[in-house]
Amino acid sequence: MMSGFKKIVRGNASRFYQHISRGWKRKRFIQFLDLVKPEPGKVVLDLGGGSGSFFYDNFDLVQKYGLRVVIADISSQDLLKAESRGFETYQLRENSFEHIVDDRFDTIFCNSVIEHVTLPKSEIWDYTADDFYEKAFEVQKDFAADIERVAKKYFVQTPCIDFPLESHSWLPTFYSYPKSRALHVARLEMILKYWIKRTSPDFNLLDEVQMRTLFPCADGVFCNRVLGFSKELIAYRG
Ligand SMILES: C[S@@+](CC[C@H](N)C(=O)[O-])C[C@H]1O[C@@H](n2cnc3c(N)ncnc32)[C@H](O)[C@@H]1O
Repeated sequence: MMSGFKKIVRGNASRFYQHISRGWKRKRFIQFLDLVKPEPGKVVLDLGGGSGSFFYDNFDLVQKYGLRVVIADISSQDLLKAESRGFETYQLRENSFEHIVDDRFDTIFCNSVIEHVTLPKSEIWDYTADDFYEKAFEVQKDFAADIERVAKKYFVQTPCIDFPLESHSWLPTFYSYPKSRALHVARLEMILKYWIKRTSPDFNLLDEVQMRTLFPCADGVFCNRVLGFSKELIAYRG
């Protein structure tokens, strides 16, 4: 069982991170409005939107721009929370996106999700072979192709692999070489016990070249920087 002290430290660290990240998310939301120009009343599908926190935290802008936001996720528990926040919801099936063929979805917004669309969640703790990265990239390719197929407009954000602090584990230089899947899983097992941030090894972070490969029909792919480092990558079509 987690000690009371560890719980308090983890809780405070998480609140501190949320406080900082709220500013980044606000900036990203404004980039989304400027670049993609979602139209009032048309559906914005928040793909992998979880409990809808991104749009809920920026609800003043959702109202100002008359956006109709639908939250889609694989987690039915998160969708219940999104519903309680007043959002329409859409249940996704894990790694099976053929069913998202719906011309209601004018715009897709996808924030911090594509890096998690990798191997099935039931396999990820046991999968320690280095071909994880290539296999994960193939799944990410299918996901990106579906976004390009389904949405007239899109905005897809993902943390950049080149940022020195890895965003899921909060470990510095998590991907330092050799890039070893077994090492990454072992590190994440270890931090479950001792570190202030916990996460599961379902993510495969991307670089700018990979993001351009995934979204060949984007109007642009760019990176937002923090302290000069590439923090996150964004592909968009407006
Ligand atoms: C880091 S959270 C981001 C949540 C939200 N987009 C936000 O920015 O607050 C990642 C989300 O991706 C969803 N997700 C993970 N794997 C997925 C998959 N294979 N297909 C679709 N969604 C997935 C999770 O359920 C989770 O809600």
